[in-house]
Amino acid sequence: MQYHALTMHSYRSVRMHTHFMDWEHQPKAFKIYPSHYRRIPLEKSNALHRFIILIGGITAQKSYPGMTYALRTNPSAGALYPTEVYVQIRDVEGFENGIYHVNPYESALVLLYPLNVDEGVESALGLKCVEGFIFLFSALYYRSSWKYRDRAFRYCLNDTGHMLGALEASCYVSEREYRIVYDGDKGMLSRAFGFGSEEMYLSSAIVGIESEFLCQTLHMQLPNVDGTGTFEQNRLIEESYRQTLHLQQKVQKENAVFNVDKEALLQAIWKRRSVREFSTASMRAEDFQTILAFITQPIPSDVDETVEIFAVINKVEGMWQGLWKDGVYLKSGNFAQKSGYLCLEQALGAFSGVTFFLVGYSEQNYQAMMQKAGIIGHRLYLISECLGLGCSGIGAYYDEEVAEFLDTKGMILYALAVGK
Ligand SMILES: Cc1cc2nc3c(=O)[nH]c(=O)nc-3n(C[C@H](O)[C@H](O)[C@H](O)COP(=O)(O)O)c2cc1C
Repeated sequence: MQYHALTMHSYRSVRMHTHFMDWEHQPKAFKIYPSHYRRIPLEKSNALHRFIILIGGITAQKSYPGMTYALRTNPSAGALYPTEVYVQIRDVEGFENGIYHVNPYESALVLLYPLNVDEGVESALGLKCVEGFIFLFSALYYRSSWKYRDRAFRYCLNDTGHMLGALEASCYVSEREYRIVYDGDKGMLSRAFGFGSEEMYLSSAIVGIESEFLCQTLHMQLPNVDGTGTFEQNRLIEESYRQTLHLQQKVQKENAVFNVDKEALLQAIWKRRSVREFSTASMRAEDFQTILAFITQPIPSDVDETVEIFAVINKVEGMWQGLWKDGVYLKSGNFAQKSGYLCLEQALGAFSGVTFFLVGYSEQNYQAMMQKAGIIGHRLYLISECLGLGCSGIGAYYDEEVAEFLDTKGMILYALAVGK
């Protein structure tokens, strides 16, 4: 997998390739369709609206001199939010049948295209007509590559996985089932939505019932609306996206069974933030077990790639320190400093209760595998919040040194730190 190898961080590369950020040309974080597109304002008090708000809606603001960030139900590398969400709604009370853009800035659905009878995105996803919701996820990669350059494609995939995780959590609290579709005619979807090469379609999620009827191909052709304001093409990212478009199906039909109170999870979704500093306190061994049971539940999808979970146990009451995988210690010892170093010398990796590294092997299913790592990461955030622990995603790590430490030939897909 050339892309992953080409975008590895090393002790040397982060010191050789420093770049200055062009703050004058920071891309916009929201895509706004023109005002003549009809809007449905989303109200938290309406259960169906809330179901949609929980998938990437704004939950907090952070202000710095001269700038204010809107923080959302999903975390995002550098708070840059490359992921866009669209939803097709059919036969759901209170909504006109149509394809909408989910606009977190206005907390509204923007009607892009009213559906004709038996027409829909299903034909591009290999499905019969779905009654209910089909969410579609894409990434405007320049929002992330503006800061992270070539490595940004990784973050677009992890971030979109987090958005899928947000959808999973929203489904759980409103007692709905979902399944992810990674495969499909992405060219057809991109053309219909008017995406240029700057917006990459990545995945869909079905929340509804597939009927017996076939849908006709979409006739819509939306204008391309600028979602970033400024743009600089990144050929490596565009080429890597194209080279990883064709996936090999590996169907997972089982649903997750979460043993968590729905109201507690709902509160965790509203409150979730990335922890910025850990205390000196240890976490409990039973919390570690609860976390593992939660994050390893099946994820129903058409391309379910294996993602291995390694854990560096730093501060867990009643557990030895060491490197742990699948219930077995691979090495014992105090690796706190080492795990901090591996996470590009970030204190979060060293002072955590546990620092996780997610590892995968598939070149062909790279897009689906990286998004799955994001979903696991999202589960980790939410269950940590439920347990009164803090969590942070860590996208910056020394790839080869992590692989050497874990003694794996796999790709390091994502790191996360959890603790008190
Ligand atoms: C893929 C990914 C990678 C991240 N990498 C880091 C990181 O290396 N270091 C860090 O301190 N935070 C990291 N974060 C956390 C983001 O900075 C955080 O999500 C963002 O600032 C928004 O804040 P919030 O999560 O509190 O809403 C990462 C988040 C994601 C989703």
